[in-house]
Amino acid sequence: MVATSHASGEINHNSIQVVVLAAGKGTRMRSSIPKVMHKLAGVPMLHHVLATAATLNPTQSVVVVGHQADVVQSETQQALPEGNQPTWVLQQEQLGTGHAVKTATDALFESNTPEGAVLVLYGDVPLISPETIAAAADAALNGKVGLVTAHFDDPAQLGRIVREDGVIKRIVEYKDASTAEKEICEINSGILAVPSAQLVEWLAAVKPNNAQGEYYLTDVIEMAVNAGVEVQGILAQNPDEVAGVNDRVQLSELERIYQHRKVELLMLQGATVADPARVDVRGNVTVGEDCFIDVNVVLEGDVVIEAGASIGPGSVVIDSTIGANSTVQANTVVEGATLKAGVSVGPFARIRPGSLLEDGVKIGNFVETKKAHLGKNSKASHLAYLGDASIGEECNIGAGAVTCNYDGINKHRTTIGDNVFVGTNATMVAPIEIESNAFVAAGSSVTVKVEEGDLAVGRAKQRNIKGWKRPDQRSS
Ligand code: UD1
Ligand code: CA
Repeated sequence: MVATSHASGEINHNSIQVVVLAAGKGTRMRSSIPKVMHKLAGVPMLHHVLATAATLNPTQSVVVVGHQADVVQSETQQALPEGNQPTWVLQQEQLGTGHAVKTATDALFESNTPEGAVLVLYGDVPLISPETIAAAADAALNGKVGLVTAHFDDPAQLGRIVREDGVIKRIVEYKDASTAEKEICEINSGILAVPSAQLVEWLAAVKPNNAQGEYYLTDVIEMAVNAGVEVQGILAQNPDEVAGVNDRVQLSELERIYQHRKVELLMLQGATVADPARVDVRGNVTVGEDCFIDVNVVLEGDVVIEAGASIGPGSVVIDSTIGANSTVQANTVVEGATLKAGVSVGPFARIRPGSLLEDGVKIGNFVETKKAHLGKNSKASHLAYLGDASIGEECNIGAGAVTCNYDGINKHRTTIGDNVFVGTNATMVAPIEIESNAFVAAGSSVTVKVEEGDLAVGRAKQRNIKGWKRPDQRSS
């Protein structure tokens, strides 16, 4: 199946051009959002397909757009890095899959001689695997047609693969199929790869002579057979990978399948997962051995959970590193943060972007940190706000302490040395510095630098009024 030139394991798909079909309306989504921009695991379906296509390192990826082309294009341009942008081709009228691919190949090759092979993918078939498309591409680079098929117990209205003596002869669309053909359970995924020159030639000959009056891409199969070109069926190992999305029910089914796979990978990497059905992975997550992930956890973006760390129930971790043996306790949100080893945050903490918590830091309930660096073993156990702050080692930040970082226009930093004790309900009006070993009395409003080892008391002196009487009850 794999060409000898690829036998070394080095697959070179440099002469593959990918065409992704995404012009259809997606009526059954009942949505103002284009179908291919609906998200699977937090990422538009189209972007999953483009990422999978990119594993082949193709010369080019072309997306055929039609309905809401501008939205698909602009959102993709915003979401993908400069180097990973596809080329866009507009299909004004959706006259069928054959017409869609022809629109793309017309734009791709113009007057150039078509070289290599074209791989056709679908923007609404998001779980197609890199292995399957590589097999299709390899077939086409070896002069065959690579056609991805699957066995479905209930093939519904999908195109049927017609074989004679086991050899693929053609594809028949459900609406054009005879009763006997409707019994066939091997279906056309729609995904195929064809040597470019032949594809161009065959597409030019496709006619809309069928029940739907459409230009069928599937007609090229029979043309290949007639031209003596072998059609190599590539049976999807897992039927899920060729499942298309037509409505939100199907999208949710694929979401579950995708999540199950992602969570399974985490488990195989050494994480214990309380309930694989109640963790959502929306990005790239890596885990070390003996991690624990409790129920209703959402992991988003690039997340690293190092060995022995645990994520408590209801927590959300976004673009962060949770260091070895650290604990994110229940209902905590961690975003854009780095937790080193043996850190504990939460329950009910909010660790915002730019937070760097060194070994042994403890952040308790209802504490918010933002752009805050806390040195080793420092603690803020309850109800504090630490924003734009550098805090040294072994500090204790009392309940209700607040760094007043914002003057209504600019943000300012609070700098605290090592082994500082900040009493309950102290406010530190930034820019402000508190040197090592200093002590801030509870309730102080600190506006003046506190030097090494000093005690700052910044509150009105208490006076007690003897014989004070409470107001009488109003008479009326
Ligand atoms: C097609 C196949 C069918 C296969 C099925 C798998 C043909 C004729 N039939 O069915 O054998 O089982 O896919 O899902 O190819 N699209 C365009 N422009 C168009 C028409 C379609 O971009 O003019 C896009 C759609 O957005 C969609 C994809 O092509 O992403 C498939 O179109 P759809 O109408 O869903 O597939 P069928 O033609 O019904
Ligand atoms: Ca159709």
